[in-house]
Amino acid sequence: MAVNFSQSRTKENLMRAFAGESQARNRYTIAAEEAENKGFYALKEIFLFTAEQERAHAARFYEFLKQEAGNTIEIDGTYPVDQSESLVELLNMAAHNERQEHEDVYPAFAKTAEEEGFQDVAYTFREIAEVEKVHGVRFTKLADMLKNETYYEKPEGDEWMCLNCGYIFKGTKLPTMCPVCHKERGYFIPACMAPYLGFEGSGYERKGE
Ligand SMILES: [Fe+2]
Ligand SMILES: [Fe+2]
Repeated sequence: MAVNFSQSRTKENLMRAFAGESQARNRYTIAAEEAENKGFYALKEIFLFTAEQERAHAARFYEFLKQEAGNTIEIDGTYPVDQSESLVELLNMAAHNERQEHEDVYPAFAKTAEEEGFQDVAYTFREIAEVEKVHGVRFTKLADMLKNETYYEKPEGDEWMCLNCGYIFKGTKLPTMCPVCHKERGYFIPACMAPYLGFEGSGYERKGE
């Protein structure tokens, strides 16, 4: 049944989503500071990268609210206080919220939008829900690696990229600093998560090997 946008639940859900994304963006920016304070530059970058995507989500939802420009929209909602000095906890809390968005919140908003006749909004909620899944999986993976101490060490061998100079380290345990640029090892990111790498981590062979 088509509904007038101004009277729709979708209008409110878009504002809820805008508020949620805006807060997620800030939570990740703040978590990035915590990661940096702990010398974990790579994790800081991952938080900032994700924060920027939450900004893009917020912008997309906000755009749908354009026709309400000049009005205020009252919403109720619950928002998490995800504060911790533990990076593992910050990652797990972030993953939890991402999962909720992916599994419950955005699918429900999409369904309502569809019922109210806003197909493009429904599509956007569904596709952004898929992005949140990726966010959640990545945060969980990182939390597990930190918790199990497999971020810097992989008995079966792995590859890492230094985010400062691009050097690829191959082995079972990262040195305490990058052998090329001498930045601390917090600059290294596992190859499977390295940006712009251009090859599968496990398929990489250094020249001459
Ligand atoms: Fe998002
Ligand atoms: Fe997300």
